[in-house]
Amino acid sequence: MALPAQVKLVEVGPRDGLQNEAQIVPAAIKVELIERLADAGLPAIEATSFVSPKWVPQMADNAEVLRAVLASPRRRLQVAYPVLTPNLKGFDAAVEAGAQEVAIFGAASESFSQKNINCSIAESLKRFAAVVDTASALEIRVRAYVSCVVACPYEGAVDPQRVAAVARQLLDMGCYEVSLGDTIGAGTPASVQRMLAACAAVVPMKRLAGHYHDTYGMAIANIYASLEMGMAVFDSSIAGLGGCPYAAGASGNVATEDVVYLLQGLAIESGVDIDKLLAAGQFISSHLGRESASKAARALLARQRAGEKQEQGL
Ligand code: HMG
Ligand code: MG
Repeated sequence: MALPAQVKLVEVGPRDGLQNEAQIVPAAIKVELIERLADAGLPAIEATSFVSPKWVPQMADNAEVLRAVLASPRRRLQVAYPVLTPNLKGFDAAVEAGAQEVAIFGAASESFSQKNINCSIAESLKRFAAVVDTASALEIRVRAYVSCVVACPYEGAVDPQRVAAVARQLLDMGCYEVSLGDTIGAGTPASVQRMLAACAAVVPMKRLAGHYHDTYGMAIANIYASLEMGMAVFDSSIAGLGGCPYAAGASGNVATEDVVYLLQGLAIESGVDIDKLLAAGQFISSHLGRESASKAARALLARQRAGEKQEQGL
């Protein structure tokens, strides 16, 4: 199959990335990061999550961050700022703060569902249905996640048919897109393609997105394998930030800089300005006091610095 000519990137660093940082990042830094990501041309930026602050203290400033982003003079009206909402309580708080798009997050593994949101898959689907019904009455768009689409940290390999069944139920509920999460980054092109084939048999590929963590360094290969199957929406995280507090050993999402470099090499349009993206990655990495996890960012920045030295005759 020909690769898609265009890909949509959903930036999840401010949520998936920063939810897993040991240090609590101040709201003002989160807002500045989100604004820089919007300036770089990302069409959707997951801003925060309306979950219990006892479970994820890193996101306790959710309302403050979302309100500041939406009220900012730098806000880009064409950019979507979805936020995670596990239940009606989170949904109501998100709407109160101005959310116009939310995301619900289920799993294909029972143990992960219990550890992550403290309920079974069936119970979570009931809670999500209530969120989707309320959201549709308010004309708020709902995206959905399925976690553990390849493997679960507690149960091991996950049957692709179970992933497909949950994805179908989320779509039937009224979600506009289902993002397939390789939460612990255990997938390889072969297992990801098997899982996608099962999902695409029951959900049109254009309603599916890939959300690949890079724990084993396979995320870029898995994106390429997904492009080959016609997938055209991918989640990624600036500087490769991320993980999941309820999946031990899960490391960051695929780095946005790495994905943009891949897409540029394949002449696939993403609308992202790589220089502004690199600057956003440097901004958050320097705040966190560590090097970016993006290999492409490190190489491109080293090349930029070498070019500057040449220009200055050093
Ligand atoms: P629970 O303890 O079962 O909830 O938690 P509950 O309904 O029994 O309520 C207990 C307390 O939590 C009550 O407060 C509620 O008011 C409060 P108390 O009376 O004790 O003071 N509460 C809330 N507070 C704020 N916001 C809410 C909310 N709901 C209840 N929305 C709950 C259930 C879902 C809340 C909890 O398990 C939770 O917050 N989990 C969050 C887990 C999380 O954020 N995980 C990371 C995101 S998912 C992810 O990273 C995967 C993804 O990236 C895809 C992939 O990679 O696979 C998306
Ligand atoms: Mg994730």
